[in-house]
Amino acid sequence: MGNSTSAGATSVARNSKGRVLCARKLLELTDGVVDRESLEALAGQSILNPRQFDRRCVVALSQFAALLETRNVEVEKPLDGKIAITAFFEASTRTRLSFESAVLRLDGKVLSVPDGQVTGIAKGESLADIGEMFNTYGDVVVMRHPDTDCLEEIRTNLQRPLINAGNGSGHHPTQALIDWFALLKWRPQLCLPDCPPDQRIHLGIIGTPGSMRAVKSFLRLALMFTGAVSKITIISEMADPVGLDLTEPIEESPIPIEYINDVQEALPELDVIYVNSIAFLGDSYKNLDNRYQLQRGSKLKPDAVIMHPLARNRELATDLDETDHNLYFAQAAGAVFARQALLIAVLDRLDRVSNLDGTI
Ligand code: CP
Repeated sequence: MGNSTSAGATSVARNSKGRVLCARKLLELTDGVVDRESLEALAGQSILNPRQFDRRCVVALSQFAALLETRNVEVEKPLDGKIAITAFFEASTRTRLSFESAVLRLDGKVLSVPDGQVTGIAKGESLADIGEMFNTYGDVVVMRHPDTDCLEEIRTNLQRPLINAGNGSGHHPTQALIDWFALLKWRPQLCLPDCPPDQRIHLGIIGTPGSMRAVKSFLRLALMFTGAVSKITIISEMADPVGLDLTEPIEESPIPIEYINDVQEALPELDVIYVNSIAFLGDSYKNLDNRYQLQRGSKLKPDAVIMHPLARNRELATDLDETDHNLYFAQAAGAVFARQALLIAVLDRLDRVSNLDGTI
């Protein structure tokens, strides 16, 4: 544990508490070579749903993010001349600010809408018309909105790549990338289709993926990591916690999945616990039941790690922050690099980053 700066990226602070992850270990798995082909396929793409990714792409983006974390790429100004519009019609701490930090650190520029009420929405303007305006204002749009249908509406006229930063109870694909970036740094062997048996993880998810977009997107990617995720246990008070969106991918995945509602029964078996609190219920939020609170005294495996997309409430006690179970602060700290990797690929600026083909 500790607070230090990485070897390459000179000005980026690391998490102050909990595990500090080593990006270099992830790069060493492929001798520093990043899968450029997978990244090139993202050029000009909108990122709306985690089903757009496959395992190879998640690993490629994570390795590229690890490279950005270990090298001082800022001096190459890869987003010079690009403008990102961050349009947030719903509250955010991490997503908007880490996207903006990602762009600004790479010499791009940002047009920030921190609150939809400062746009014409307050006067009844449609998202479709706002999308038309964005075509001439920026090169990529990052949008969060409380309505699941918002992506289709803004894309009526928007011709720029759109990155979904959370659409109601829909998805949060870039959060899922950040989550897997953290997991792959923590245990790089999870990248391997033939992950050694003693490195495979039993993953526990506390919450209702069907109504928690970050959990849903994380689970969607987890289902791709066959041979690395040995089992998934979903701990929820709901009878059907996963919802329609994931029914088919779950049925098709060879990973065994169990559903239980007793968190105490599940905890001692889990290597990774992903917890979230806030569920979207149409026009309101619901917090997790008090029974599901994790704290220092919880019966965790000694080396188990806890992930959380944050913001947290009572479900994750602060007395865990100083422990090695805390992966959630390192998870959040990787966001700038993961989002930089995605933006460079989507904005077709890979050629501005030298030496993607090795040497770490
Ligand atoms: N993880 C996440 O989406 O956090 P924010 O709501 O602060 O953006």
